[in-house]
Amino acid sequence: MAKNKTAYVCQNCGAESARWIGHCPSCNEWNSYREEIIATASPVASSLTVRAKRKPELLSGIETSITERLTTGISEMDRILGGGLVAGSLILMGGEPGIGKSTLALQLALAQKSRKVLYVSGEESEGQVKLRASRLPGDNSECFIYNETELESIITQAAAINPDILIVDSVQTLHSSVLESSAGSVSQVRECAAMLLRYAKESGVPVILIGHITKDGSIAGPKVLEHIVDVVLQFEGDGNHLFRILRPAKNRFGSTAEIGIFEMDGNGLKEIMNPSELFINREREQASGTTIAATIDGLRPFLIEIQALVSTAVYGTPQRSATGYDIRRLNMLLAVLEKRAGFKLGLKDVFLNIAGGLKVTDPAIDLAVVSSVLSSNLDIIIQNNVAFAGEVGLSGEIRPVARVDQRILEASRMGFETIVISGYHRNIKEQPGIKIQAVNKIEGLVRFLFT
Ligand code: TYD
Ligand code: MG
Repeated sequence: MAKNKTAYVCQNCGAESARWIGHCPSCNEWNSYREEIIATASPVASSLTVRAKRKPELLSGIETSITERLTTGISEMDRILGGGLVAGSLILMGGEPGIGKSTLALQLALAQKSRKVLYVSGEESEGQVKLRASRLPGDNSECFIYNETELESIITQAAAINPDILIVDSVQTLHSSVLESSAGSVSQVRECAAMLLRYAKESGVPVILIGHITKDGSIAGPKVLEHIVDVVLQFEGDGNHLFRILRPAKNRFGSTAEIGIFEMDGNGLKEIMNPSELFINREREQASGTTIAATIDGLRPFLIEIQALVSTAVYGTPQRSATGYDIRRLNMLLAVLEKRAGFKLGLKDVFLNIAGGLKVTDPAIDLAVVSSVLSSNLDIIIQNNVAFAGEVGLSGEIRPVARVDQRILEASRMGFETIVISGYHRNIKEQPGIKIQAVNKIEGLVRFLFT
């Protein structure tokens, strides 16, 4: 537990000293130093007095400002927040270094038309931020940049400027002078977040706090904050690929099922309104082993390309490798193909790749994975106007998947002529221009694909 910070203060001139001294060097007064608390470690006293004044209120009598949402000017961001920033909310945006957190935050600051934004950067100087801003779209004449890491100064400046949005990049660089521990330590991170939360609630200003997460999650920080903040947004993506997904892990004011998809280019992050176009390429030359799956992430249906390569194992033990897909699930599907459909894959190398560097956990892509493997194994092309959506069970049955209507609609919207789904679905809504092919078992799939 942190102790209150104290200092000896000259009662005559106000000079401070770390230890008691008999003679004040600044005003030459004798015996004027008294010990004083200059910062409290915990605001127990003040919160007690506040609590004493509060009374329980009837739910129906409570007035709320939650409907007053501040639109961010970035529609993907608004959507995942549930319609914009809620007044007085604290939003934590976490992600691995280099994923684009600072870029998105600055872009958000620049997208505010004639709204005051205070962007505090503890990592970059004002000049560096300016350099980055010059490459980004948007221009906000009321955007203040402040290079500071001491929390008390940040809150003082925020109170003076009174911005509409406060952005703090990043929580790991912050330190409060109340605590002695170094910036980035758990106690500092927690204390700073708690103080920013208090600032947000008292002033009604939405605060966006950026936090780094490392691959192993070992860094002190965002994890300890998740219960303090109102919204946790996770920025995901693969550094080698261009697209990024912003995913709410927690949202007190909206759903966590929405996702936002962005693409990083030379001029910052672009919103992807139509993700299917990014993840499939229909102009390329057709090859065996490639299929299209209709998947859903969050609430958004989109189409992705699955590629498989099956070849005779050169070494004794066959290799299995999967990018963007669970390798154990791939092994299971291969076992099902071997047992239920008689394909001898035990001596083959199998490589699976989800195009675009996407990681997919949706079981509905099983059907496309199986079809890719079969297509590559037999070296027979599957037409690129066929999409797949179905889960494969251990007995080789094709199981129904969630929200199949949305998947069919997306495939039809993207101009696919056939979609293969489970035969166990009931009340399927037909879409114009797309034929629904129902299959119940792996055998049925093989018959459909290769005869
Ligand atoms: P950054 O926002 O600094 O990441 P974070 O704050 O999450 O650590 O940006 C990360 C990467 O984005 C960086 O490697 C360079 C790249 N980038 C672009 O490709 N285009 C751009 O316009 C900008 C500003 C950055
Ligand atoms: Mg950064």
